[in-house]
Amino acid sequence: MLNTENIKKDFPIFSGDDGKKLVYLDNSATSQTPESVIEAEMEYYKTYRANVSRGLYPLSEKATKEYEDARAKVAKFIGADTRELIFTASATASSNMLIYAMENSDVFHEGDEIITTLMEHHSMLVPLQEVARRKKMILHSIPMTESFELDFSEAEKLITTKTKLVAFVGVSNVVGTINDMKRLSEMAKKVGAYSVIDATQAVGHIPVNVKTLGCDFLFFSGHKMCGPTGIGALYGRAELLKKLNPGFFGGGMVDQVVCGETSFAPAPAKFEAGTPNIAGAIGFGAACDYLEKIGIQEIENHIQEITEYAIEKLSEVAGLKFYSNIDAKKNVGVISFLIEGAHPHDTSEILGRHGIASRAGHHCAQPLVKSMDVYAVTRVSFYFYNSKEDIDKLILGIMEVKKMFA
Ligand code: ALA
Repeated sequence: MLNTENIKKDFPIFSGDDGKKLVYLDNSATSQTPESVIEAEMEYYKTYRANVSRGLYPLSEKATKEYEDARAKVAKFIGADTRELIFTASATASSNMLIYAMENSDVFHEGDEIITTLMEHHSMLVPLQEVARRKKMILHSIPMTESFELDFSEAEKLITTKTKLVAFVGVSNVVGTINDMKRLSEMAKKVGAYSVIDATQAVGHIPVNVKTLGCDFLFFSGHKMCGPTGIGALYGRAELLKKLNPGFFGGGMVDQVVCGETSFAPAPAKFEAGTPNIAGAIGFGAACDYLEKIGIQEIENHIQEITEYAIEKLSEVAGLKFYSNIDAKKNVGVISFLIEGAHPHDTSEILGRHGIASRAGHHCAQPLVKSMDVYAVTRVSFYFYNSKEDIDKLILGIMEVKKMFA
């Protein structure tokens, strides 16, 4: 187990009387920010704020260097080459831009099939639905088994030579399951389809290496892994990024602009139109440094131990039903549940009154939640700064909820 008492000292939010009492179990919504990330962002604003890749004066050169160093750090964190890492505004911005860039590169044709999963977050699902409608393509979903895992026997049937794209979530933000990303990427490759992984809940929580996974594209956001909000990343295999037309257009992504025709800069600049979130990218790089210092394998092990403990304790609560994978080894630290007789929003609100942050709702994954015959669940999600003591406080909070609704 990691020493959470020491780790919490790195996070300003856990300091002071209120901070010490905070039981933060809403990490799937967003994680907390260590001082080093806040400082990295502040340093940019305070000491070398300038635009990047444009100015020839020292301040701008320094900003450009820090921005590009951050790219190298984030790329290295997922085993990518620096030129394969595009900074975006968020995971959602990544998926939308990628789908639009593919459409703009004439990848999709009427009658093509796209395979996704029932576990998708709306950030992947809705852009896929939209492009399928625009291009008259067929969208299929891999269903989920009763143990909250993807049904690979169905996936085998669905992924065929008609498949153009296999787009799937690496880790579910509702049921917590860590999907077999390598296997799905291989299945896509075998039929000549592209693979896209939404790794938003995976990167920074479990080891993720794009080369080992063998995927074509992968995206994630900074704020789920101790980085700032408003910054995300899109990985694409170098040869694919070279061929792909951009999705957004403007300054900073061109080579030559003449009347009627524009040639584009090489990737990743080709995909970064306009002034980027410079401070956010620098903070994102600092978050990678911080997580590397803790150790990604240590983080995964810690989350697994906390999850195991939470599942054990929650199983003892009468009238609590799980809506998540209760095999801790297959769960990234996300537990959704309902308490008999209590509305999930009431549960979450009462937990909040006891200083416990959780989330209730459909978690931007309506088809998944509806498939479990409910419209909302309460969710707790863990990170490496959570302790067994946090879980004990959660159980006490749940007992209060039960008392109120008895
Ligand atoms: N996608 C985020 C969540 O799961 C916001 O809560």
